[in-house]
Amino acid sequence: MIARMATTTRATNNPIPRFPDGFLWGVSTSAHQIEGAVDKREPSVWDTFTAEPGHIKDGSTAAVACDHYHRYPEDVALLRDLGVDAYRFSISWPRVNSPGGLDFYDRLVDELCTAGVRPVPTLFHWDLPASLDWMNRDTAERFAEYVAVVADRLGDRVDKWITLNEPAEHTLFGHALGAHAPGRQLLFDALPVAHHQLLAHGLAVRALRAAGATDIGIANSHGPTWPASQEPEDLEAADFYDVLLNRLFADPVLLGQYPEGIGDLMPGDVESDLKVIAEPLDWYGINYYAPTKVGAPQGADIEFGGLTMPAELPFSVREIEGHPVTDFGWPVVPEALTELLETFRDRYGDRLPPVVITENGCSYEGLEDQERISYLDGHLRALHRALEAGVDVRGYFVWSLLDNFEWAEGYARRFGLVHVDFETLERTPKASYGWLRDVLRAQG
Ligand code: FCB
Repeated sequence: MIARMATTTRATNNPIPRFPDGFLWGVSTSAHQIEGAVDKREPSVWDTFTAEPGHIKDGSTAAVACDHYHRYPEDVALLRDLGVDAYRFSISWPRVNSPGGLDFYDRLVDELCTAGVRPVPTLFHWDLPASLDWMNRDTAERFAEYVAVVADRLGDRVDKWITLNEPAEHTLFGHALGAHAPGRQLLFDALPVAHHQLLAHGLAVRALRAAGATDIGIANSHGPTWPASQEPEDLEAADFYDVLLNRLFADPVLLGQYPEGIGDLMPGDVESDLKVIAEPLDWYGINYYAPTKVGAPQGADIEFGGLTMPAELPFSVREIEGHPVTDFGWPVVPEALTELLETFRDRYGDRLPPVVITENGCSYEGLEDQERISYLDGHLRALHRALEAGVDVRGYFVWSLLDNFEWAEGYARRFGLVHVDFETLERTPKASYGWLRDVLRAQG
């Protein structure tokens, strides 16, 4: 099935240190980015957003994407040959709402089980049904109903679940800045979107527990915030950004409270909602890509990482110099992963359940992707250093198995261990795929 393969699998000279027995190795994808077959389901906010001109950089759509909907057996074979323990994919809520939609996930889960790969579904990865809106509290209730339906159908074969993917980015990019679906530019008026997703998370945990699930987590995106200087205005701006990216989504889940001053800005009976949001988790998922350097506002809009950050924000994001960058322009700073995990351990103490890295990866062109190997090699060593420092990390998932539809960037950013030719849909494992397979074999 695989026509050709990158030829080299060169790793750095030293083997990756040994991770504990039972450590969970996996790769991640998401429904909207790989499935295609949009005609077989109701639309999501990403379909309507993509259809409006100007939103997606290369003018593409996810109508076919990797055509994983039809080619999933080939993709599961790639997972099996890679030797991962687990596969993190997402379930499309609009597909589940459509006739026959759950049958697809039934087939996928069966195929994974037969291949000996543990299915780890994410229940929401940004593709909200187009008829719904996170500004409405009711969407959280609808989410819990959908989760119960999925758990009822798949719960006999799935035991590890992820409620939400990156509610921070979905709030910030989708509702505050407008670079992602549904394209709103509400700035701080988008805060209810954060609260309703967090509430949806807590309600989903309850629905999953009611269905018998015992291994539940969330995938939040986090990264260290580095102040641009030690000047008070830069420290204050960096602290503000840290609250937005890190604490706004971790504190309610782990501590049952919002960072100071935020709870008053949220809608509804916040105190009672926080009890739901803080339902105990079995593990906490972290998506990590890069740290962010932040300073005081600079009085002008700033273009950064494909986003326009308006001048009125109380912070400004700055370039991090002195590190290699990916094709996306993201700095490669493996040691910041160790820093992040140590910060979480210190900040949350015994309220932090075991951690799983649910996404980590980079965009580079080409089949002989030595830069990706070096990125992953560096981050695995950094992760191991966190383990040695006493952080309880139980798993690591690479983003991503396949090149895919990278949201507003379209197909221009290639994060895959496997190259996808978007004309022919042919899959070709890159050098990094062979490298990771060798690492996993060596880990036993
Ligand atoms: C994360 C998203 C994932 C992918 C990677 C590159 O923020 O969760 O879908 O786009 O970034």
